[in-house]
Amino acid sequence: MDIKLIQAQIETDLANAISPQLLEELRVKYLGRKGLIAELTASIPTLAAQERGAFGREVNGLKSKLLTLFAEKEKNLTGSIQGEINNNIDIGMPGIAPTLGSVHPITQIIDEICGIFTRMGFCVVEGPEVETENNNFTGLNIPLEHPSRDAFDTFYLKDYPKLLLRSHTSPVQVRAMKAHKPPLAIVVPGRVYRPDAVDASHLFMFHQIEGFLVDENIRFSDLKGTLSLFAKSVFGRDIKMRFRPHFFPFTEPSAEVDISCIICKGKGCSVCGRKGWLEILGAGMIHPNVFKHVGYDPEKYTGFAFGMGIERIAMLKYGINDIRLFFENDLRFLNQF
Ligand code: DAH
Repeated sequence: MDIKLIQAQIETDLANAISPQLLEELRVKYLGRKGLIAELTASIPTLAAQERGAFGREVNGLKSKLLTLFAEKEKNLTGSIQGEINNNIDIGMPGIAPTLGSVHPITQIIDEICGIFTRMGFCVVEGPEVETENNNFTGLNIPLEHPSRDAFDTFYLKDYPKLLLRSHTSPVQVRAMKAHKPPLAIVVPGRVYRPDAVDASHLFMFHQIEGFLVDENIRFSDLKGTLSLFAKSVFGRDIKMRFRPHFFPFTEPSAEVDISCIICKGKGCSVCGRKGWLEILGAGMIHPNVFKHVGYDPEKYTGFAFGMGIERIAMLKYGINDIRLFFENDLRFLNQF
């Protein structure tokens, strides 16, 4: 009988004993009254007289080795459980489920609006937030000294006047038209910047969606139909729209677009300032100078464009009265969406 082999086997068994119950079963099997050690000891008298001494010493050696190994193992097993109990950890308590984040309300509105326009056949395109002076202003028919620059004033980077933070998403019109020939139907979501003092309705950074469509024979009625489908999809089928004449340098004619107040349905309330109407975007037919700048023939192509502030749309849709709430990262606010 090879005592070394037996010891190796028992050590493997011990390593696999992962609970006090399993350890106890091994103790009975090897050290119990009818266990292996008892059996080996009982077999000594049956051996030849000259072998008994050596075998007896081996069995005794194994037995005391096993007593040490079992004692150590027991300490390990109960020690780790006892440690947890001593540290007041309730190992039976259910775990803490990680909280899943959710899509930011501004991103939700962007996705919803882009979805409405892509279903009408528009592509979604993005442009850089650091723009050239040319794309943000001159290419959009806003000459250097023109007073309308004031409305789109922005932050300039250090090699002023060439680079700036875009003050609207309209410069992507110039980029897309320079890169592609008509027909074009594109919406552009993204961040824009203005040096505005922060209050309940102004921030130095906010989001816009620009849209434009260029082809032959595009008319103002195409703009009206497109925007009316958009507004009804976002605010409900029974809202009314109106187009008020306005001025934008990059469109002619230009309009500001209102929807009937979603709170009072046009009767007049505090949200719409008793007017019954809420302004939601600016729009118009793309100015021939914009086409000339990008190399389109204004005699051949016509197109419409529009631009809206996302925060404003979200505030109207959800009845939010302070734009700062979107960017304070307060979970009590964000968890509602
Ligand atoms: N870029 C304008 C703004 O920031 C919004 C706008 C108005 C965009 C009319 C347009 C447009 O494309 O046709 O206020």
